[in-house]
Formats: sequence, structure tokens, C-alpha cells
Amino acid sequence: MLRTHTCGELNISHLGQTVTLCGWVQKSRDLGGTTFIDVRDRYGLTQLIFNTDTDAQLREKSRGLGREFVIKVTGNVIERTSKNTKIPTGEIEIAVTDIDILNAAKLPPFLIEDETDGGEELRAKYRYLDLRRNPIRNNLVLRHKMAQEVRKYLDALNFIEVETPVLIKSTPEGARDFVVPSRMNAGEFYALPQSPQTFKQLLMVSGFDRYFQIVKCFRDEDLRADRQPEFTQIDCELSFVEQEDILNIFEGLTRHLFKTVKGIDLGELPRMLYSDAMRLYGSDKPDLRFGMEFVELNDIVKGKGFGIFDNAELVVGINAKGCASYTRKQVDELTEWLKRPQIGVTGMIYCRYNEDGTLKSSVDKFYNEDELTNWAAAFGAEKGDLMLILAGGADKVRKQLNELRLEMGNRLGLRDKDTFAPLWVIDFPLLEWDEESGRYHAMHHPFTSPKPEDIALLDTNPGAVRANAYDLVINGTEIGGGSIRIHDRTLQALMFKHLGFSPEEAQKQFGFLMDAFEYGAPPHGGIAFGFDRLASIFAGLDSIRDVIAFPKNNSGRDVMIDSPSTIAEAQMTELKIKTTV
Ligand code: AMO
Repeated sequence: MLRTHTCGELNISHLGQTVTLCGWVQKSRDLGGTTFIDVRDRYGLTQLIFNTDTDAQLREKSRGLGREFVIKVTGNVIERTSKNTKIPTGEIEIAVTDIDILNAAKLPPFLIEDETDGGEELRAKYRYLDLRRNPIRNNLVLRHKMAQEVRKYLDALNFIEVETPVLIKSTPEGARDFVVPSRMNAGEFYALPQSPQTFKQLLMVSGFDRYFQIVKCFRDEDLRADRQPEFTQIDCELSFVEQEDILNIFEGLTRHLFKTVKGIDLGELPRMLYSDAMRLYGSDKPDLRFGMEFVELNDIVKGKGFGIFDNAELVVGINAKGCASYTRKQVDELTEWLKRPQIGVTGMIYCRYNEDGTLKSSVDKFYNEDELTNWAAAFGAEKGDLMLILAGGADKVRKQLNELRLEMGNRLGLRDKDTFAPLWVIDFPLLEWDEESGRYHAMHHPFTSPKPEDIALLDTNPGAVRANAYDLVINGTEIGGGSIRIHDRTLQALMFKHLGFSPEEAQKQFGFLMDAFEYGAPPHGGIAFGFDRLASIFAGLDSIRDVIAFPKNNSGRDVMIDSPSTIAEAQMTELKIKTTV
């Protein structure tokens, strides 16, 4: 090995030892008589000292070391006169006796320090330099630890890691597929898996019983902070289990990760019905770091001559604690924020519960103080609170109020990154109506089993059929989702029929799975965690990008390697892809 130690491990116990370190020049300070150089590697920083005791040639050489030069230095560990208590190596420095420049470096385009001057675009282009910075590297170290703990936990429970193919046929998870042309089969395409869903089910038919895989998945969908076109799942499937078993095992995994990686005892995870999540938070992934539950007001506000409330399917609001002091301007600004097309409210009604006990609403014309007292009681409001109310179609208004609730949570500092509020959301509907196509879609995926007691409703009231499907939600982010599957050909065929597939289409796309069900398919179910999302929550980040070594930007581009890119005409011809000129 070129080195005897790393740049992060030397301390007072090494005094007097001759050591050799390798690393990058972080910083050089020439104080005339003395030069200090910080050398950095993955493990930390060590200070090198060159002074009048140092060989003159060596001192000269040290002056030629630029930022990010790769060096190998040998020297003696000595005690620092002025100690730095902030870093583990802060009590010592190296009196250098030899130095080798392993490689010179161009001046990097941004500072490679914890606080950098590089903008996002520049850092993305030079991602390999950004990855030298502690905060980014630490995220990947954290991710590594999490992956190790996932494997440890699942292995101990007899899960087997099996790799499934990446060149497959489309799996319908709701997003668009990325496709790959097949040279050997002109005009035909593979699809990259949106998840290994059908393969893991086939592994159950094969008797593998407990499978997992930390696996890349690919989805061609619009990108957001928590979505990348390629991302990683902790994908799992089990046979001979019921929903309860799966929830328990993966609640165990969640707790194991929090305990071993973050030292946090999560305790038991609460469970919430999908219907309650929608009613109380307007979202199937409620952020439970704070309360501010929805309060429905239909019973107390209708019939007083206020048209907007009278004509609305649902009048619903939240109580913003301590916000009665909001000025008119602040409330107007909040309303404008809600009126943006992304949220699209037409107006917001509010009611202040002033410190002097008076109640003042923006619809005083229709509601007297007694009525407002009823509002305050419904909200559980106290002096100093501000009630914010929206009205409209139930589904739409709940979604809008969810946005307002999250925004108020932000404004009131209730969404602390070091607080973790996980929960299971259970009993999802099996189907969801899609306005655009005018038919039902599978809410989770078409392999999800309806609750046996609801199967009869498939023909009469498909929207009311509940599924044995569940999501793990942490801090308002969907971390994982899964379900008990259909393992019976007839029920699977019925499901496809309800999803608008003709028997021929179903056979063409999923015949392999339905055929497999005829050869002894065990009852089975599973779940997949979004590993990037889980890691970013652990790291306290807003975006999953910084827990991915080489992520894509919001346009799906890797600006470092400049991908996607065009391919040569000859390659196109070989792949039998016609170009339209
Ligand atoms: P689902 O589609 O819910 O389920 O995906 C599972 C989890 O994967 C994460 N995820 C993503 N993370 C980053 N970028 C994306 N584009 C992205 N899309 C999804 C989410 C999500 O909860 N086969 C089923 C699982 C099963 O039924 O067992 C599936 O893929 O955290």
C-alpha cells in the first residue's frame, strides 16, 4: 500500500511515529516562515507543516502544490501548538520529510469544501468533484450502511436475494416504459422494468418463498424532487403470508434501519385507513409530524345564505395555531399562493380568533358572532388562532387544503427534518376512476388482490372495492407500497376485464403470469421501498438526487456524460430504426 494511515485517523496516540499519507491538497497557507497544507481523503483531513526545520528543497516543493494535487507525504507525527478541537486529527500535524506528487490537478471549477461556491449545474457537470465533498460523500456512506443493514435484516429472516432481468417486457406500473430496440429481432423492443413485479411473483410460483432484491427500476415520468427516471427499490415478496405478516416484517425492517443507522427507536407504527387519511389530511401520504387535521363544516355553515358554502359539496378547513396576528396582507398573499394554477382555489375564507376573545371572519355578513363561536368550537380553536376554510368539490378541495396544510406546516416550522413520523396507510381502493380514459385503473397495479369480502362489489360498485394494499409513509413521503396479490387465474382474468383489457390483450401481455398461476401458485404478497427516498429522509434532504452517486437533472439528463445523446446513423440502421427525415 502507498500509505500507512488514512488522513482521518492520526491523533495524539501516534506522536513520534513516522507515517505516510496519500490524499488531495485541500488548502495551503503560506505564513512566510511556515507553510501549512491540509491533505484530504475519504476519511478526513490532516495538517502538514513545513517550517525552518524542513529541508529547503522540500519547502520549495511544497510551494508548488496547488489545490487538489494528489500527493504522498511521509513525516513525523508531532503535537500542534494551536489545536483544532473540531476535527479528530486536530491535535497533531505532520512534520514532512518527503513528498511525492502523484498527480497534478487543474484548478477545480468550484471549492471542494463543505460550503462550496459552485452552482447546481456546475456541480452536476463535475459530479466526480462534487462527490469529493464531505456532505455528498457522507450521504453515499449512509446509503451504503442502510443497504448493508437491509441485507442483514432480510437475510436473517431467510430472504434470498435474486436478480431479475433488466431487458424485459413492459410491466404496467402506471408510468411510461423506457424501451430498448432489439437488433436481433427487428422492429421489436425490450422494456426496462418499472419494477420486478411479475418476476418476483413468478419466483413465488417457483417456491422461493421469501425474495428480496435491491434493484434499479426505470420509469419515464415527469421528474420531481423525489423522482428519478432510474431509481432503486428494496423489492420484496413472500409466500404463505397475510397482510398482517407483511406489515409486521417490514415495520421491523423500518425500525431496524432507524435503530442501527440513526440510533432512533421508532416504536410501533400507527396505521391509518386510506379513507381516514383522505378525510383528515386530504392525502394518502399524510405528514404526521404535525396535527392540523381537517375539520368538515357542512353541518354548521350551510343554509345561511352564503352561496359559496351552500353550493359546495364540501366546506372544510384547518386551524392555524397562533396565526390570528396574520395581517390582511399576509392572508391575501396566502390566498394568491393558493390561486396559482398548480393549486387552483378560487378563494379562501378565514376567521380570526383574536386575543381579546372576539371572532372576526371574512364573511361577517352571513355569520354572526354566535355562529363563529360554533366554528371555533368545531376547530377546537383558541384565542390567537386563525381558521382557514376552503369550499368546493370534495376531492378537489381536500387536495387543495392538503397543500395549504403543508404550507402552513412549513411556515410554522412544524416539519423538522430530524423528526420522523412514519405510518402505514392501509385499505386502499382497488380501482381509481380515470377521467381522461373514461375507465377504471388499478390504483396500485393489476396484480393486487381485492379484499375477499369486496369482490362481489366489482360488478356493482367498482370504485368501492378495497384492496389488500398498503403504503409506508414517512414525513409526508410515500416510502413504500405493496399488496397481497391475486394468485388465481380466474380472478386475475376478471381483474383484467375490469381494467378494460380484452381476453386476447390480457393473454398477450400477461399470459405468462396467468399460465403460471395454473401450476400451483402459492398465496403471496410483498412490498417495495423506494430506497433513494428512504435514504434521503435519513439524510434530511429535500431531494433524492444527493443520495444518488450520478443522478439525472429535472430534464432527465446526465449533464456530466451528456446523455441522452444521438446515435450514429450506422447504429440506427443496425437496430432497424427508421429515421424520419
Ligand atoms: P410502487 O410503484 O409504489 O410499487 O413503487 C415502490 C416505491 O418506489 C418508490 N418510487 C420512486 N422513487 C424514486 N423515483 C421514482 N420515479 C419512483 N417511483 C416509485 C416509491 C414507491 O413507494 N411493484 C410495486 C411494489 C409491490 O407491489 O410490491 C411497486 O413498484 O418510494
